[in-house]
Amino acid sequence: MSKTIAIVTGSSRGLGAALASQLATQVSQLITIARTDNMQLHALALQHGCHHVHNGFNLSNPEHINAAALDIFLELDQSASQYILINNAGTLGPVGQYNSLGHEKAQDIASAFNLNVNSVIMLTSAFLAATRNTGADVRVINISSGAGRSPTPGWSVYCATKAALDMYTRVARQEAPHARLVSLAPGVIDTGMQKQIRELDPGDFPNRARFTQLHEKGELSNPEQLATKILNYLHRDDFGQTEIDDIRHYS
Ligand SMILES: NC(=O)c1ccc[n+]([C@@H]2O[C@H](COP(=O)([O-])OP(=O)(O)OC[C@H]3O[C@@H](n4cnc5c(N)ncnc54)[C@H](OP(=O)(O)O)[C@@H]3O)[C@@H](O)[C@H]2O)c1
Repeated sequence: MSKTIAIVTGSSRGLGAALASQLATQVSQLITIARTDNMQLHALALQHGCHHVHNGFNLSNPEHINAAALDIFLELDQSASQYILINNAGTLGPVGQYNSLGHEKAQDIASAFNLNVNSVIMLTSAFLAATRNTGADVRVINISSGAGRSPTPGWSVYCATKAALDMYTRVARQEAPHARLVSLAPGVIDTGMQKQIRELDPGDFPNRARFTQLHEKGELSNPEQLATKILNYLHRDDFGQTEIDDIRHYS
């Protein structure tokens, strides 16, 4: 029987919880990372015969990132026919324009880069090295954002991290021909992150009204439906041909 191993970060809530839940019903082995465990996911995996291991690492902390890369990938089962990595965990980071990003925000800025960029580079590097000689089908989705492709006042940190993620994906794709990698913008999703955006001070984030309106008009994506769409996209034959992609381009 063919074996698929999937790794998902940010599995405790939002899009990551929806992706991990659906993968738990589809794959042989699921490895998740988030600071909070998701007990429903354990139950679902058990019910579907999926071997699930959760890792409670804080991916904003460089020591935890290093430990995650070593613990998960150093002894990765080499017998699977397919390996999937979805780097989904992310944060808006500190929101505010140049006059509010002083030295007191230095640690918050570093934490956002650790989570949104550094952890992705380190986990993906370890994943690519661990799968290099398996001969398996190897696929990576980095969950990016339209914000990395369109400058948004107040989101300098978030936009910069997602733009970095896009460029990292392009470089890794050239370095690792055994894998297919995509940096994917997911659109606007009805998760805790959107609630956080609607609660921002418009002085810090002048575009807030646009997100409030999208919510009021019911135009946010449902995380479960979006997860299904992303997993269908992941399994496409042409997956990886468009390295910087947007799920909204697909029906
Ligand atoms: N929501 C949107 O409209 C939207 C739009 C474009 C792009 N995105 C991107 O989509 C992805 C998922 O967003 P979402 O809306 O589902 O976010 P969310 O609801 O805020 O969930 C974020 C997930 O990331 C995990 N996470 C946060 N900080 C972490 C840390 N330090 N270490 C490990 N895990 C951490 C959280 O788990 P713990 O707190 O348990 O650690 C949680 O599972 C993100 O990359 C985001 O940038 C979202």
